[in-house]
Amino acid sequence: MSEEYVLELEHIRKEYPGVVALKDVTLQLRPGEVLGLIGENGAGKSTLIKCCSGAVIPTSGKIKINGKEFERMTPQLAAENGIAIIYQEFNNVGELSAAENLFLGRPIRNGIMIDRKAMEEEAAKAFAQLQIKINPKELVKNLSVGYQQMIEIAKAIQQNAKVLIMDEPSAPLTTNEVENMFKVVELLREQGVSIIYISHRLEEIFRLSDRIEVIRDGEYVTTLITPEATVDELIKLMVGREMTQKYPEREPCIDKNKVVLELKHVSGNGDKDMNLKIHAGEVLGLGGLVGAGRTELAEVIFGSKPKESGQIILNGKEINPRSPREAIDLGIALVPEDRKRHGALLTNSIKNNINMPIYKRISNASVIRSAIEKSNAEKYRKEIQIKCPTVNQLVKNLSGGNQQKVILGKWLAADSQLIIFDEPTRGIDVGAKYEIYKLINDLVESGRSVLMISSEMEELIGMSDRIIVLAEGEMTGELQKEEFDADTIMAYASAIVDKEMGGSTR
Ligand SMILES: Nc1ncnc2c1ncn2[C@@H]1O[C@H](COP(=O)(O)OP(=O)(O)OP(=O)(O)O)[C@@H](O)[C@H]1O
Ligand SMILES: [Mg+2]
Repeated sequence: MSEEYVLELEHIRKEYPGVVALKDVTLQLRPGEVLGLIGENGAGKSTLIKCCSGAVIPTSGKIKINGKEFERMTPQLAAENGIAIIYQEFNNVGELSAAENLFLGRPIRNGIMIDRKAMEEEAAKAFAQLQIKINPKELVKNLSVGYQQMIEIAKAIQQNAKVLIMDEPSAPLTTNEVENMFKVVELLREQGVSIIYISHRLEEIFRLSDRIEVIRDGEYVTTLITPEATVDELIKLMVGREMTQKYPEREPCIDKNKVVLELKHVSGNGDKDMNLKIHAGEVLGLGGLVGAGRTELAEVIFGSKPKESGQIILNGKEINPRSPREAIDLGIALVPEDRKRHGALLTNSIKNNINMPIYKRISNASVIRSAIEKSNAEKYRKEIQIKCPTVNQLVKNLSGGNQQKVILGKWLAADSQLIIFDEPTRGIDVGAKYEIYKLINDLVESGRSVLMISSEMEELIGMSDRIIVLAEGEMTGELQKEEFDADTIMAYASAIVDKEMGGSTR
């Protein structure tokens, strides 16, 4: 009976001090299938799959591989029994070659010597099996994120994994890289590997999976057969309520007479001749492919990268912020794309993070100060639904999506006049996305301005009042609301060249 499943998790429970991450989750994986695993931020997806690898020890529940029950899973047992996991952050070492990374911690030896040649041959074989072109000698730091992920997958294959678990694999990838990853997933399925695929992007789940398991608040909800499921149904199962609208209504609030930010022939950080105006109450969308120079532009406005020429004008006055600190003091905020690296102090509490930009402003009297801090943190905890036992929780103990919400809260609390969002909803679940859109609406309705970088076409169109498109560090098009159209935006985005990811380096 049990043999019909390669992997079974039965009634898994995981308690942390003050938090029950998993209450009761069951999962059954069939041979050769792709099982989509979905649920809101903090639902327990990552914790559940970490139980499979022994990275997390469940408080109670059973784990069976090919019908055999394991008292206590360990990373080594998991690997020996063919379970491999691609975590959200991979463990590559940039200074080592692709082949060396593939054999990290278990090098092939010839006597006592490390046999580099054998490792390179084996690596070449693994890459060939996945039909990917990586030079085994190439240093990993020279490879794109997409290829770095492929090395992780190749590692799993090389270790003969029968079950591959992927935790939001598409999140760090560009559009082309996602396509390549899908091909590899399909290929592995054909080769008989069973796959658990976690993603907040439902279109990916529909495209890849055979069945879909939904979990909510640490509990098993249901498992559906993919062709029989609908988007609305899945959202309802995840969120626990009906969601009729994807984008909240916004009151018309643009003040055409008030230009908040103007760029005149701004060059720097790889961008050339940027010209734009953002009005009070306006959401200006920045579209383009990954690498088009959008984040680079944000960095120049925010003072983290130098401007080479041109003028940045804020409320009619030329500014030259030379550091983020100066930009913040001028009333500019940036919610960065790579939140792990730039955004959150992981070892600090939610409360400290949210209050970070305003410490200078709040009273020094300790009683008042701690009251303000607390109420500020509570406000954003509620508004953007940060799932945590208390605001004193350390950010590193939050789920991926909830860490991102803390960074959002931090910049919203800064009370800036111009807020730049770089990919504001990446890795964020549907319900919380809606809340973030509502917050963006609140910001502009109160007269502030938003510059929003987004690679999600639907979001760009759904949220912007106007869209400017960049390609290769140049502005290639501008669209007014009535002209919004995905094909036109894509055409502008690839106007100059369309070589998003060609070779092994970029
Ligand atoms: N080490 C830990 N200490 C305390 N709480 C933890 C720890 N790890 C996870 N949690 C909590 O367990 C819950 C589930 O987190 P998990 O990371 O599994 O969610 P997730 O479904 O993967 O969410 P996301 O979509 O945001 O990645 C969260 O409430 C999280 O804060
Ligand atoms: Mg997760």
